[in-house]
Amino acid sequence: MIRASGYDIAAYGQMIDCEPRMGVYAEALRRAISPGCTVIDLGAGFGAFALLACKYGAGSVVAIEPDPSIELLMPLAKANGFADRITVVRDLSTRYTPERKADVVVSDCRGTVSLYQHHIATIRDARERLLAPGGTLLPMRDTLRVALARSPKAYRQCHYPWRANKYGLDLSAAHSFAANTESKSYLKPAALLSEPRDLAVIDYRIVTQPNLDAAVELVATKGGVAHGLLVWFDAEIAEGLGYSNAPGQPELVYGQMFLPLANPLHLTAGDRIKVRVRGNLIDNRYVWSWDGEANDGQTGETRGAFRQSTFLSRVISVDDAKVGSSQRVPERSPKMQIDTDCLAMAGSGLDFGGIAKAMMERYPQHLPDYRSALDHVVSLYSRYREN
Ligand SMILES: C[S@@+](CC[C@H](N)C(=O)[O-])C[C@H]1O[C@@H](n2cnc3c(N)ncnc32)[C@H](O)[C@@H]1O
Repeated sequence: MIRASGYDIAAYGQMIDCEPRMGVYAEALRRAISPGCTVIDLGAGFGAFALLACKYGAGSVVAIEPDPSIELLMPLAKANGFADRITVVRDLSTRYTPERKADVVVSDCRGTVSLYQHHIATIRDARERLLAPGGTLLPMRDTLRVALARSPKAYRQCHYPWRANKYGLDLSAAHSFAANTESKSYLKPAALLSEPRDLAVIDYRIVTQPNLDAAVELVATKGGVAHGLLVWFDAEIAEGLGYSNAPGQPELVYGQMFLPLANPLHLTAGDRIKVRVRGNLIDNRYVWSWDGEANDGQTGETRGAFRQSTFLSRVISVDDAKVGSSQRVPERSPKMQIDTDCLAMAGSGLDFGGIAKAMMERYPQHLPDYRSALDHVVSLYSRYREN
């Protein structure tokens, strides 16, 4: 099904305005493109990489993107004199079969970190089906890194108003939900309380598995209160061309991922903190889990432990949980009957207006006027639209 990405055009503009990222991608594309080669811009947004690929001499470019922003690409291509070299595919790359495999596949389907939605499966599929043997995949590799960090701002988000508030309300029952919620940060080097350690190397040329399970030992480099774990990535878009969203590097559109501690750790330099971070892709979303134990660097005495997960951040009612249970026997509701009847009219020769009128006559209580009937019909059918 064709989907919107969730980004608006201003957000796509910010991605281009993120110069450390864009400059590196542009240079990597310039180096990878040989005159007349074929390029796929996977997850094109409005197609900035596709336009650049043409500028650098690509013979043909396919820009693939399910978001409607891709509709802007052909007018932009015309304005730049590239319209005869660009083909737009408004769909997911995993549903597209190329006439000819591409010499270069360029993408940036990361979120705050490299593990985001179906990124890994998308790249694997592109590598196997869309890229010509010996072709170039941009980006090449990301290294995920983790360190202990102090962040009074992130701490406040977890703790206020849940554990204390100026209104004298007891909101403590909600604290654990907030304390298991990851957030986007832009921390500076002074916020780090340990050296970073590598969590994973994601080499896009070979990666197959979307999940992460890594254990590292962090050593406190100074005393202070650790409010959480900070995760970022060092990107290598091509050999010798990269950028990083590490603290201290120019700020990037991605930000960094902050995993809060429900109970901050009071650390002294030399303390050792064993940490395990897991990222499990479930239903197109990563569930992040972070466990650990801090020990005094001298005596080995425990300073504290944590066992947290974004799974615990979601407020789910018992009824909501039952909805997805495999043991649930669904009942037929009036709404289902309406949609079943409505979909059965596809192929009958009636247009949307005709279907809306027929539905109004059958279900006057639910679709009392033409406008609401038409809206319902159009939105129902658009869920099954092929292109
Ligand atoms: C972070 S944006 C990048 C936009 C643009 N390429 C850039 O780097 O400025 C990622 C885009 O990838 C798209 N996307 C994600 N998975 C995709 C897939 N399997 N096929 C096509 N597009 C995909 C999303 O809809 C989103 O617009």
